[in-house]
Amino acid sequence: MNDDLRVQYEIYPYPPRDPEEEANRLITGSPSHIAEIEHHIFAGTRPAADTLNILVAGGGTGDATVMLAQQHASAGISVDIVHLDISEASSAIAKARIDARGLDNVRFVQGPIESLPDLGLGPFDYIDCCGVLHHLADPGAGLKILRNALALRGGMGIMVYAPLGRNGVYHAQAMLNMIAGNAPDDQRIATAKQLLSNLPASNWLKRNPHVGDHTSLGDAGIYDLLLHRRDRAYSVPELVGLLQQGGMRPVNFTDPARYEPSIYLADRDLIEKCRPMNWLQRCAFAELLAGNMKTHILYAVRDDNGNNTLAVPDTPDAIPVMRDDDGLTLAAQVKPGMSLNIDFEGVKVSLPLPERAGDILALIDGEHPLSAIHAQMENAPDWENFKRDFDRLYGSFYGLSRMFISKPAG
Ligand SMILES: C[S@@+](CC[C@H](N)C(=O)[O-])C[C@H]1O[C@@H](n2cnc3c(N)ncnc32)[C@H](O)[C@@H]1O
Repeated sequence: MNDDLRVQYEIYPYPPRDPEEEANRLITGSPSHIAEIEHHIFAGTRPAADTLNILVAGGGTGDATVMLAQQHASAGISVDIVHLDISEASSAIAKARIDARGLDNVRFVQGPIESLPDLGLGPFDYIDCCGVLHHLADPGAGLKILRNALALRGGMGIMVYAPLGRNGVYHAQAMLNMIAGNAPDDQRIATAKQLLSNLPASNWLKRNPHVGDHTSLGDAGIYDLLLHRRDRAYSVPELVGLLQQGGMRPVNFTDPARYEPSIYLADRDLIEKCRPMNWLQRCAFAELLAGNMKTHILYAVRDDNGNNTLAVPDTPDAIPVMRDDDGLTLAAQVKPGMSLNIDFEGVKVSLPLPERAGDILALIDGEHPLSAIHAQMENAPDWENFKRDFDRLYGSFYGLSRMFISKPAG
């Protein structure tokens, strides 16, 4: 069932990575950034367990495994990470990256996700499954297997392809299937390169500025994008259906602002017309409206976990945490009256900031709660006005996955 796919990832481990680069940089991203997991899965508070059990399902060449292992080690949090992949070559690269960092919190298991019930692993507090479900023979069944390996209060970070931003990819895949479907891999790659350099200006892939693996990641990128044996994309409603099949409930997407129709709309009447829609309907509308989403990254929990797992800044003990930015540095750049301007892959949007955004940002250090930030502010407004300003600031930075909430343990 997985033979063609395994061979592909033995020959073209994806994404291509050089373990020597670990000395120069840590690749971070979504899903599975440590601050995102705490925020979306653990309501801002890590479970008290001595060691967190984590599975990276289809871990490939190790981006998520390395990030999870390094971020938890740096934070002094004990984790037992299992990196599971069908490809020996990909796992070997991931292992070399972990070894290069001198980390000892990862185990490597070679095998298909479908065999998880027989491997005696888990239950896991967190599962990363990035760019894998859409390649499985039965994604719903694969997701269910992962879900059944989750602890009741555990959760998952998932990335799947989205159709609109990949416009032209499936056209190119179909053409290559017609002219080189059964050829050996080196010929398929050669034919793909030939086709790429002959695409007319009107071709959708040629006109699509959002996908670039075929130009930036060499043969592995061409293969993964255009010659994959099994690859499908999910719209928001289709993804919701997949989660239901897998027994999972969505918590939120990253970056949430992209899934909010009103950020793209200037017409007040249209914004009003969208207001009655529920959260997932708004997300579906925003996907259709923006037209440029090439993946969906979301956090999800078991459908029998009735808890609210998303952290919200609802109490004075909530601690705002910047994901990568430094509050003080940002504060120096933010002037009163400014908005947060952002380019979402070709769509320029402005997110509102409160008048005193800089004063609040300067006090955010990832350790002090809102009550202390309020107390330390010069000429502080009363709590209600401070909280209104903070919520506005938070709404914009959280919308871009740049600020999260941490809560002190109970
Ligand atoms: C596109 S790569 C993504 C790698 C990694 N998750 C990342 O985001 O960088 C897909 C990976 O899934 C693995 N894979 C595909 N089908 C699998 C299966 N049924 N069980 C386990 N791994 C699988 C492949 O070997 C490959 O390494």
